Amino acid sequence: MTVDPNSAANIKDFQLLRFHFNWTIDFATKTIRGYVEQHFIKKTDCTRLVLDARNLKIDSVQVLSKPCNYKIEAAPFGEKLVIELNNVLDEFNLRIYYETTKGCKALQWLEPHQTAGQQQPFMFSQCQAINARSLFPCMDTPAVKAPYSADVSVVGQDGLTVLMSANKRTKQGSFHFEQTMPVPAYLVAIACGTIVSRKIGARSTLWCEQELLERASFEFSQTDDFIKTAEDIVGPYRWEIYDFLVLPASFPYGGMENPCLTFLTPSLIAGDRSLVSTLAHEISHSWTGNLVSCSSWEHFWLNEGFTRFLERKIIGRLSGEPVAQLGAHLGLGHLQMSIAQLSDSGMVHATALVPDLKETDPDDAFSGVPYEKGYAFLFYLEHLLGGRAVFEPYLRAHIEHFAEKSIDTVEWRQFLFEYFHEQEEVLKEVDWNGWLYGFGMMPSIPAYDRSLLIPCESFFQTLIENELFDEALFTKLSPIQQMILLDMLAQRAKGGNLISRNCLAEIDARCDLSHSGNVEIGLHWFLLCIRAGYEPAYQAAINYANSHGRMKYCRPIYREMYLRDSSLARQSFLAHGSFFHPIAHEMISKDLGMQ
Ligand code: BES
Ligand code: ZN
Repeated sequence: MTVDPNSAANIKDFQLLRFHFNWTIDFATKTIRGYVEQHFIKKTDCTRLVLDARNLKIDSVQVLSKPCNYKIEAAPFGEKLVIELNNVLDEFNLRIYYETTKGCKALQWLEPHQTAGQQQPFMFSQCQAINARSLFPCMDTPAVKAPYSADVSVVGQDGLTVLMSANKRTKQGSFHFEQTMPVPAYLVAIACGTIVSRKIGARSTLWCEQELLERASFEFSQTDDFIKTAEDIVGPYRWEIYDFLVLPASFPYGGMENPCLTFLTPSLIAGDRSLVSTLAHEISHSWTGNLVSCSSWEHFWLNEGFTRFLERKIIGRLSGEPVAQLGAHLGLGHLQMSIAQLSDSGMVHATALVPDLKETDPDDAFSGVPYEKGYAFLFYLEHLLGGRAVFEPYLRAHIEHFAEKSIDTVEWRQFLFEYFHEQEEVLKEVDWNGWLYGFGMMPSIPAYDRSLLIPCESFFQTLIENELFDEALFTKLSPIQQMILLDMLAQRAKGGNLISRNCLAEIDARCDLSHSGNVEIGLHWFLLCIRAGYEPAYQAAINYANSHGRMKYCRPIYREMYLRDSSLARQSFLAHGSFFHPIAHEMISKDLGMQ
């Protein structure tokens, strides 16, 4: 088994069997306090238990109500809580009383005015990749999984709902949760606010603020179809329920696969279901990532590459293979951009499918590489080994074989070789080293279907050659094609002036893309405008960045603005900093050279 370089926990000496939280959420102090109890078995004669922690206020550590000695030491990625265990049994319950602090990177506390309802505060967590340690002391590595339960109450605020990433949920005074499947610390999630619900599928309830309920129910009505399609490919859904929560706009990701309670950004609600592939993606994680998990963040592609692969299979089944491959094509562009960006910022090592993260926080290494190089690798292997008819049964067998486990790339490959032992000669053709450990683009780039790309390309040509924007033709493109077209324009505008400001003004006047209901269109439009120096759109671009906490949207706008007008970028960020989740806040501060 590999060692997780981003965790200090001594997981070989102690095995976690289950854990339990007793928490009080306090909006007045913006803290969670209480205790976490962890049930361990001793695996060696080691008497010192090391847990990951970060910015926690530890009050006491106890076994059977007897205090243990402990100390907090610095660690490469936060701190470690070192606990001396004297005379404990081979199996013991460790209880740690503690409080979170203002330095908790996992939680965002929103004021009422930062929510859709504007009446009550809101709080939510984001633990992936290594922020669980700022919410509770734990073995903060995906290698360790256990079931959990929780009792949670809220003080000083009435009528708020608490939700967690659990498959059982009851309320008797306080909120009680149980997750009966083994989960790693990064999949512990909590949210609290004025939240309503609507049943949206056989196993699914949609949770969100009242203001979003109608629009969200329409947007995500295909939930059941996605789950059933996934089951058809990779076998039964094992988590009982699949609920999801649409968060306030500051949620820093598109989606987060918290088990039984996916978190989604409200920006997916475009009104035309054009962005729902993110839901298909998070659903897919129920198999790849949550059931079979990577054992350290160096093997993150086993989560995200596999999930992309499954996501695009679902989209292919439901919307047609050309749509899925259009997405794959878009992904290639995303991959190229990620590689360029990482290389420019001295992080070329993070362009490997399996990177070395000994000195890198996984949040800093986050990019399109594990997603799109990982996807391309699986796509390539599928074709090499005989196509869907043989590869999908393999995928199912892989899930079955590794269910509830955490694996690394070597274990993955071993099983692949066992499964395809009759095709060993074929597997030997693969440039394993190049694919897994090579920097930059991969050894071979798959030829994805381009049929839906052709209309975008011809539109693009006419536009840049003749500065002719045919509005009627533009509206005939599907929303995804429009996104791609604008992406092409924004990408190629990087090098210099691609379109005149006059032409942009004309597009602006005709289509009002600055106020598009589709955030992807907004993103590429604003990047295009900033790169072209089209100032009339700057303010709208800044407003956009300051109202979309999903890092995919706010970060590129801020970065681009910074290149154009660094003081404008910094000033607007300083004025709106409180909108952002601590994770996004830190990343943008770094991007703007403020940290
Ligand atoms: N698990 C990820 C989000 C994540 C990754 C959070 C790493 C923290 C660290 C989630 O499943 C995801 O991939 N979200 C994507 C959307 C998806 C459609 C690619 C996102 O947020 O952009
Ligand atoms: Zn994902």
